[in-house]
Amino acid sequence: MDSSVHKPDSRGRDIIASIGAGRMGRGIAITFALAGYEVRIIDVKERSAAEYEVLHKSASAEIHSTLNMLSSIGLLDANNIKSTEAKVSFFAKHNCAAGLTDADIIFEAVPETLDAKEAALKLVSRFAQSSAIIASTTSTILSDDLQQFVLRPGRFLNAHWLNPAYLVPLVEVSPGRDTDPANVTRLNTLLETMGKVPVVCSASPGYIVPRIQALAMNEAARMVEEGVATVEDIDKATKYGFGFRFAILGLLEFIDWGGGDILYYASRYMTNAMNSERYAAPAIIEKNMKEGRIGLSTSKGFLDYSTINVNEYQQEKLAEFVSMLRHINKLPPSAMAATSTQAVGAPESPDAQDTVQQFLKSLETSDLNRAQACLDQEFSMTYPGGNEFTALPQLVEWLNNRYQSVDKTVERFDQSQAGVETVIYCYGTLSGVWLDGTSFTNVRFVDRFVVIDGLIHSLFSWSDST
Ligand SMILES: NC(=O)c1ccc[n+]([C@@H]2O[C@H](COP(=O)([O-])OP(=O)(O)OC[C@H]3O[C@@H](n4cnc5c(N)ncnc54)[C@H](O)[C@@H]3O)[C@@H](O)[C@H]2O)c1
Repeated sequence: MDSSVHKPDSRGRDIIASIGAGRMGRGIAITFALAGYEVRIIDVKERSAAEYEVLHKSASAEIHSTLNMLSSIGLLDANNIKSTEAKVSFFAKHNCAAGLTDADIIFEAVPETLDAKEAALKLVSRFAQSSAIIASTTSTILSDDLQQFVLRPGRFLNAHWLNPAYLVPLVEVSPGRDTDPANVTRLNTLLETMGKVPVVCSASPGYIVPRIQALAMNEAARMVEEGVATVEDIDKATKYGFGFRFAILGLLEFIDWGGGDILYYASRYMTNAMNSERYAAPAIIEKNMKEGRIGLSTSKGFLDYSTINVNEYQQEKLAEFVSMLRHINKLPPSAMAATSTQAVGAPESPDAQDTVQQFLKSLETSDLNRAQACLDQEFSMTYPGGNEFTALPQLVEWLNNRYQSVDKTVERFDQSQAGVETVIYCYGTLSGVWLDGTSFTNVRFVDRFVVIDGLIHSLFSWSDST
């Protein structure tokens, strides 16, 4: 289904509803309000007016304090707190129809019991427009089991967010057997537009992350029980040896790096040594080995490396590791010295450093035009939705495919120091003409970029139009 037909707010955007004013309902509301969407938080629990007032007050207060917190850590311009809050409106159960009738995307976030889900989904089905997507945020109940409560189940699926919803990029989207695939695409597109990272998984217990996490967390607890190591050391090991690597390599990609054969033999050893089948490798590991899909060493594993330059790919990944190590302040001292003049993963040309120096100077002297000119010269940048640009020509091509013309007016810069990183925010407005000939004016934008060792490492750009 084409998402362009679902744009009923005055700026042509989907209207969002959160059913439930608890942790998840509030988190989803904040996420969408920050992205400029109108959000309705709808309570569907039977309660007195006084009880509803308490809920309303506590939800409003928490949204207010969360936005203040986001502002204090540099993620939201303080001037925009009020307008972001104003995007969120509240509806009591007796008034839920008013909040639901023109909502386009509805997230059910009531407590994790089948009874509460059933009552909420039946109620929502009655009042929602037929084109609305209804998504449950359930952590454990399969979409196949919930869709029976929804009239026209083709519009129903699960969307599992992780907390805090406004910060964690991942959303696990799990369609049921009757879900219309067009609605999966429509929801994913919306999430990507907001900079989220949706993944699709079947109606299977534990989605992807909780299923992996549950095994790892239980194993950590078991090691405490068995006296293998202290709580502190197990947590240190998971942070500095385990966790940080998987922000760069996915688990399956990681198997390919080490080799599926290594996992096979390690699993056999652990199964025997621990006398437990919980370490047994699944059949796919042995099958891959038999078929020569061991990983990087055979150019094929879970992923196919036969058409890429493996050396370049590995170098890129290692550079990302180094950035991550730098971020957690764990680069070895020798590496600190070696990389102090050249940021890994960033453009290496001396021109780039000159540009950044000029840029920082122009900030000091509030010369916004010069600062912007420097910015336009040298950076890599990521747009919500995953478009990544590492060179200016790529960016220009992207802009040309989006706008007939666009003008940027820079209003001000904010700058703060976080360890070795200088984090700079640039605020202003965009005006121009879309490809279809319609014009836009005064669309707010924020560019956030990070300067390390005199090089611009990354730039994230967000605007009301994306
Ligand atoms: N909290 C998390 O970290 C998290 C993470 C992922 C998914 N989820 C899922 O999100 C959903 C909501 O969880 P939460 O943590 O926001 O819960 P919560 O308890 O914080 O909020 C639930 C909301 O529903 C209201 N409510 C209570 N009883 C109700 C009923 N019988 N009918 C309708 N509404 C009722 C509550 O007043 C509250 O506003 C659950 O399905 C949960 O599994 C939560």
